[in-house]
Amino acid sequence: MPKIIYGTAWKKDATTELIVQAVEAGFRAIDTACQPKHYKEESVGEAINILEKKGIKRNELFIQTKFTPLAGQDISSAPYDKYASLKKQIAESFEVSKMNLQTNYVDSLILHTPPFPPSKLFEAWNAMEIIYEAKEALQLGISNCDDLATLKKLYKESTIKPSIVQNRFYADTDYDKEIRAWCKEHNIIYQSFWSLPANPHLLVSEPIIKLALKYKKSEPQILFNYLSYEGIIPLSGTTCPIHMQDALSAFDFELTNDEYNSIRELL
Ligand SMILES: NC(=O)c1ccc[n+]([C@@H]2O[C@H](COP(=O)([O-])OP(=O)(O)OC[C@H]3O[C@@H](n4cnc5c(N)ncnc54)[C@H](OP(=O)(O)O)[C@@H]3O)[C@@H](O)[C@H]2O)c1
Repeated sequence: MPKIIYGTAWKKDATTELIVQAVEAGFRAIDTACQPKHYKEESVGEAINILEKKGIKRNELFIQTKFTPLAGQDISSAPYDKYASLKKQIAESFEVSKMNLQTNYVDSLILHTPPFPPSKLFEAWNAMEIIYEAKEALQLGISNCDDLATLKKLYKESTIKPSIVQNRFYADTDYDKEIRAWCKEHNIIYQSFWSLPANPHLLVSEPIIKLALKYKKSEPQILFNYLSYEGIIPLSGTTCPIHMQDALSAFDFELTNDEYNSIRELL
């Protein structure tokens, strides 16, 4: 999995163009969801198609999509039968994803939120395991899960273990310190979103400003570099070509251990 993932939420009609731009700039991982309320998944497929014609093959890209339970959908645009069982909804949603993305497999399929009631977690996971067993999703993961007990239960009782957790990186959850430590122990990749928007205080902190000056990098680059040092894969949904380059060149330098520690102390 690349060190940073291009996020495609909220890009509406600019989705295709921005993805082509991001991949041509150097991004190789793309995150989307079968959730028309926030993502134009079909535009991701158009971008994949355009990129293929430009010589960037499907297998050079890491494509990640999500199944979004009904509570996270606009009822009028839900991409599956809202009265069907959860198992059937997941199968239908994934068929729509494959059609939208113009691909017969995804590199990762994420459960967008733990379903409600919690007793439905395994109904959802088992449906995703079927997709994995058919080799149509190469990895399975879960998002918006800040309850470690739920993750532990999922890991213990599933046949196909989660290999990705995608969560909001912010102070309210103590930056998921416990979850991240547990993920590391179990070889689960932790992906962060809200890494920049939820942390303006980090970007204006003295240690990060000093390091930006010393390494001639921007403050977001110092933060992305730190996240990578901690084993985190951040998402960036930037719409700006300069910020795309910024994100991509955030990993070509190393801080000293003391400098990494000075950032860790901020969290
Ligand atoms: N699982 C979930 O529930 C969930 C929820 C939210 C998001 N996501 C995923 O995560 C992706 C990223 O979303 P996000 O919420 O983390 O925010 P984001 O879309 O990455 O937005 C970050 C903000 O930071 C700015 N920015 C980005 N790079 C910058 C840089 N180098 N310097 C200065 N400003 C910079 C952007 O402005 P510019 O456009 O001007 O650069 C934008 O205003 C989404 O597209 C989606 O794929 C998942």
